[in-house]
Amino acid sequence: MKIRILGSGAGGGYPQWNCNHPNSRRARDGDPSAKPRTQSSIALSADGVDWVLFNASPDLRQQIGENPFLHPGEGLRHSPIKAVVLTNADVDHIAGLLNLRESQPLRLYATERVLSVLAANSVFNVLNPAFVTRESMRLDEPLSLATPDGSPSGVVVVPFAVPGKVALWLEDESRGPDFGSVEEDTIALEVRDAGGATRLFYVPACARMTDALATRLAGAEVVLFDGTLWTDDEMIRSGVGVKSGRRMGHMSISGHDGTMAAFAPLGVRRKVFIHINTTNPVLLDDSEERRAVAEQGWEVAYDGMVLDA
Ligand code: MLT
Ligand code: MN
Repeated sequence: MKIRILGSGAGGGYPQWNCNHPNSRRARDGDPSAKPRTQSSIALSADGVDWVLFNASPDLRQQIGENPFLHPGEGLRHSPIKAVVLTNADVDHIAGLLNLRESQPLRLYATERVLSVLAANSVFNVLNPAFVTRESMRLDEPLSLATPDGSPSGVVVVPFAVPGKVALWLEDESRGPDFGSVEEDTIALEVRDAGGATRLFYVPACARMTDALATRLAGAEVVLFDGTLWTDDEMIRSGVGVKSGRRMGHMSISGHDGTMAAFAPLGVRRKVFIHINTTNPVLLDDSEERRAVAEQGWEVAYDGMVLDA
């Protein structure tokens, strides 16, 4: 399975447009240890010809430009992108759909919940319904992703719910502390090849480790996991925001209840942080925090990273 990181940053990317945090300044200044990152998305292919995207970031146009395997290859209108799978309705995961207009055949997969969000926003009809089919994914049921002509892509996903919350722009404070979130608001994907072998887990947002999630991930070959923040109060302490990681639906990397501690007993062979916020010190190649995650066997995803598995 070919697996390529198109974007490794969290919502807003790195450096975020309005962020003057030292991390962001280093990236903007061209510091080679502070590489910019576009917003999170990955591309997968069983045959190196047809590609499936997991999430469509607002930076998709740039990501296609930077990755020749996604360039049109035949005739006057063509794309190797045959399908897009959405894991939530966050702006950083759906806004890129608008780049995939207009009359290009495509299959779009998401939970009923996320499809209902798209249906309620008529701007997404720029993906011409005569060419773009929208298909719902059921939790915990293996699904063979198809190309627009109906042939199998060779990529099979098993969508499953993880702790999280509804997209920021859909939060409804009148509906209690979880803002009206439902199970299908935040999912992760187990990726299998056509033979049924598990190749990857993609978990770009997760609010906490549960026993069920730990059981699922134990012994996995490759896990891409939510690396939004180093500490829960990072945005508050650095003065750039008022929200904690918990409030945003993201567990943090460090600490006794953090991601590194949660993964320590799981025996995952390759552990990679993705969806990394502009304030997170692990973005910096020369930081103490980067050294600390590397010591625990973690990699930090970067745009263009090849993760073939
Ligand atoms: C998140 O992952 O928490 C969201 O992408 C935040 C946002 O939409 O800005
Ligand atoms: Mn996000």
